[in-house]
Amino acid sequence: MAETRPYHPAAADEHPNGGALVADDFDDADSALSAPEQSLQSLRSSVLEFQQENGVSFPEFGDTHSRMMILKSSVLRFNPNMWLLTLRGELALCPKVHGANRVLDVGTGSGLWAIDYADLHPDAEVTGVDLSPIQPSLVPPNCFFEVDDVEKEWTWTKSFDFIMSRVMAGSLADYESYIQKAYDALEPGGYLELQDLHFPHGCDDGTMTEETAIYRLGHLFLEASIALGRPLNPAPTYKGIMEKVGFEDVVQQKLVWLLGTGLGWTKEEVLVFCTSVRAELKSSAIHGYLPIYVVYGKKPEAPVASPSDAPANASAGAPTTA
Ligand SMILES: C[S@@+](CC[C@H](N)C(=O)[O-])C[C@H]1O[C@@H](n2cnc3c(N)ncnc32)[C@H](O)[C@@H]1O
Repeated sequence: MAETRPYHPAAADEHPNGGALVADDFDDADSALSAPEQSLQSLRSSVLEFQQENGVSFPEFGDTHSRMMILKSSVLRFNPNMWLLTLRGELALCPKVHGANRVLDVGTGSGLWAIDYADLHPDAEVTGVDLSPIQPSLVPPNCFFEVDDVEKEWTWTKSFDFIMSRVMAGSLADYESYIQKAYDALEPGGYLELQDLHFPHGCDDGTMTEETAIYRLGHLFLEASIALGRPLNPAPTYKGIMEKVGFEDVVQQKLVWLLGTGLGWTKEEVLVFCTSVRAELKSSAIHGYLPIYVVYGKKPEAPVASPSDAPANASAGAPTTA
C-alpha cells in the first residue's frame, strides 16, 4: 500500500464533517517521510473528507475507485451483534478465536470486532484497518487503527497470526488478489477467516417470489455491485480461492440470517421501494434469508513452493536423468 497512516484515536472524536480536526500538513515529497517512521505521521485532512449523498457518506481516499457506502454507525453497530448471535457468542470459528498474538481486522468499519478481540485478549496486538477513520476513540491499549486501502500493496513488515475479514463482499474488485495478500501477510501456521454475507437473498419454500420487494432488492443490490465492479456474491468462491493460494484445512460453514441504490432511481423512488421492503420484512408470509458464509483456513507450517515459483523453463514432467 502506498500510504499507511495509523489512526489517531484522539482525532476521531471530531467528526470528519465537523471541521474541528486540524490534521498535520506533511509533504509526501519530504525525504524524511520515506523512512519506515512515516507510518507515525498523523492523518492528512484529505483522509477525513467525505462526500455526502442522500444522507450517506462516501470516503475519499487516494485514488481508490471504491465508493463503499459508510453505513450509519448504528447499522455498523447492529451488524456485529448479528454476527455474535450467529456465531453463538464467538468472534470467529477458526482456532485463533482465542490465543492469537498479532491480529489484523481488514475493513474494520466501526472497529468493534477489533476492540472486542483486544478486550478479550489483552496480550494480543490487534490492528484494524479501513479506508475510513470512523472508529471510536476509547479503545483498549492493545488495539490500533490505521487508515489504508487494502486493495493496494500491503506494507506491514511484521506478519500476523490471525487475519479477520468480515463483510468485505461488495468492497473489493479482486478477491483472489486480496486473499493472496492475506496469505503473504500471515506467518506459517496463521489463520485467515472470512465472514461474509451473500446476495441475492435465498428462500426455500417459494414464498419470496420474484414480485416481492425483498427479491428485487437482493437482485438490485447484486446488479449494482457488479456494475460498480465490486460484486456482492464472492463468498461461495472463498474456499476455492483459499485452497488455490495455499491455505490448508480450509473449512466452509454456510449459515443464514432469516429475514423477518441507486441505479438511476430518484430519491423518492428509493424511499417508496424501501417502504415496501420494510412492510415485507414485517410480514411472516415471506420466508427469505440472507446466506452467510464463514470460511477459514491455515497457512501451512512450512511454506510450500507454489507452482509459480518453478523456473519458467522447468519441465512439467518428472526429472529425467542423462
Ligand atoms: C460492510 S463494512 C464491514 C465492517 C466490519 N468489518 C464489520 O463487520 O462490521 C466494510 C468496510 O470495509 C471498508 N473498506 C472497503 N474497501 C476498503 C479498502 N479497499 N481498504 C480498506 N477498507 C475498505 C469500508 O470502509 C467499510 O468500513
